[in-house]
Amino acid sequence: MWRCAETPRLRYRRIALERDGIALRPFSTGDLPRLLAIVQAPDIVRFSHLPSAWRTEEGALAYIRSLPRLASGGQKVDLAIEALRTGLLVGRVALRNISWRRRGAGVATWVAPEARGHGIGTKALRLISDWAFSELGLLRLEADPDRDNFASRRMLGRRLFRRENGRSGRGGGPDSCHVCAYPRTLHVTSSPRRILTLA
Ligand SMILES: CC(C)(COP(=O)(O)OP(=O)(O)OC[C@H]1O[C@@H](n2cnc3c(N)ncnc32)[C@H](O)[C@@H]1OP(=O)(O)O)[C@@H](O)C(=O)NCCC(=O)NCCS
Repeated sequence: MWRCAETPRLRYRRIALERDGIALRPFSTGDLPRLLAIVQAPDIVRFSHLPSAWRTEEGALAYIRSLPRLASGGQKVDLAIEALRTGLLVGRVALRNISWRRRGAGVATWVAPEARGHGIGTKALRLISDWAFSELGLLRLEADPDRDNFASRRMLGRRLFRRENGRSGRGGGPDSCHVCAYPRTLHVTSSPRRILTLA
């Protein structure tokens, strides 16, 4: 695969970030049953725009197995959110469409319906954003929540992402809004415990 000179080699299996009661860690095939149960949630289907194949056992397994390659190719880092208290998989957060030349990426997340409303989505976004800015050297993160995705818009707006003047939805089209975060706009109170993941 063609690699830009600035593309770092990310070791997916070594990514381990922890803060505020959650861990962001690689998906493994052991996550399959719980992952499959969570991604059937109607609002995850609707708002996360996941390929339908990922909701089947075969598709989800193939996707999990592709993640180390996608990370080492510098294209995508898709991580499981684990609740440290229970050890349960409670969600997913990802950097996608990473451009090492522009030093930017999109972010995506979902949280299991029964785990929502406890700040997990917000904490996961902050943690992956902090890591992307401080360790990966990215300078801009973007998201395109659907206009009627009120939970996501509220989560992204919690001192994380901001609308940019004169810009409307891009990736998601006219029914989405475009929001961005930069290193200086991120309010981080404590450092994540982490293992260096760059080769
Ligand atoms: C969006 C999502 C990730 C939020 O996860 P979460 O862990 O519940 O988020 P948080 O607890 O950090 O808080 C989200 C904020 O949204 C608010 N919120 C939750 N549900 C809401 C709703 N239906 N309408 C409006 N606001 C809502 C919460 O009150 C909270 O704001 P507050 O703390 O100021 O009150 C989760 O709802 C989800 O997975 N949705 C389906 C998939 C999705 O939309 N992904 C994002 C695609 S862009």
